[in-house]
Amino acid sequence: MNYKGKRWRTIWRNDDPKGSIGVIDQRFLPHEFETLTLRTMEECAEAIRNMTVRGAPLIGATAAYGLCLALRDDPGDASLASAYRRLHETRPTAINLKWALDQIATAVKQLPAAKRLEAAYARAAELCDEDVAVCEAIGRHGLKIFREVLAKKPSGSKLNVLTHCNAGWLACVDWGTALAPIFMAHDAGLPVHVWVDETRPRNQGASLTAWELNQHGVPHTVVVDNAGGHLMQHGLVDLVIVGTDRTTARGDVCNKIGTYLKALAAHDNGVPFYVALPSSTIDWAVQDGLKEIPIEERSAAEVTHLRGKTASGELAEIQVTPDGTPACNYGFDVTPARLVTALITEKGVCAASGEGLRELFGK
Ligand code: MRU
Repeated sequence: MNYKGKRWRTIWRNDDPKGSIGVIDQRFLPHEFETLTLRTMEECAEAIRNMTVRGAPLIGATAAYGLCLALRDDPGDASLASAYRRLHETRPTAINLKWALDQIATAVKQLPAAKRLEAAYARAAELCDEDVAVCEAIGRHGLKIFREVLAKKPSGSKLNVLTHCNAGWLACVDWGTALAPIFMAHDAGLPVHVWVDETRPRNQGASLTAWELNQHGVPHTVVVDNAGGHLMQHGLVDLVIVGTDRTTARGDVCNKIGTYLKALAAHDNGVPFYVALPSSTIDWAVQDGLKEIPIEERSAAEVTHLRGKTASGELAEIQVTPDGTPACNYGFDVTPARLVTALITEKGVCAASGEGLRELFGK
């Protein structure tokens, strides 16, 4: 996407003989736009762990390049296996991470050591290009749904879309999943307005989604996470669209904590609830999302403290809870398939069910 007149992706290979990787450092957005160079596998692992990069597809792309950097230093089997383990342990919920690691491991496993590095970089670059194409296709399929929903409203109405967390281009390599149809709808002249859940505790909605929409000129309003139900009860939401970090073979979706409550409110109010996903987030080995998907537990400090810009323009952190009050911080929750109106994938739209997914993906 464009930022200050330049076309950006969230991750790229630098033109340097050491093959370092460039990323947008998302910890400082929306207040500062900074990039970071990742020079080693360990730096890639740390960037995923500390949320320099985040969002399921981008975590996968960063891990893929992390394996490349490990192979640059030592192309042997032991190095490949230990880098795989290190990168895999960084974040447990998004299945794209394992998917991307497997893609690189498969591409190099049968090759002699001397040929592995080049093959790994080539596959990592391909994964990134594929992610862009996949997200663009999701955008096109989603746009069709947006048009249909808008067509049912009185002429001259706005299309009010609610989204949770950040499933935009910052979460992917470009375009985004849930935000791709929003960008396309806006570009096509549809009168789209987005309710942006702030997404406590890390505020990916208030900081990242709002930043993306702002940059692209899409009308939007940030709301507190608890406002969604109220907006839906008053007919102010025409559809909900979110991303997912892992989709089970029967269509359960695991996304940022709070997604489930939005799905419940949508169900109660007859508001369609769509989930946009690249097929790399489907875990075909898992059926029951509630029982089988590991939910990341993050630092309590993300709940007890807030980060933001002070009136004098400095970035600062403040404490919102009393000294000594404990907090817990589950990163994700599972929305059962029965609450999902449809899945929007690169191959088209399907029911959130085993049958729907199998039909689309021929599994
Ligand atoms: O913890 P994060 O910021 O990595 O969580 C991101 C999300 O929950 C997104 O909705 C998800 O990764 C889908 S992104 C296309």
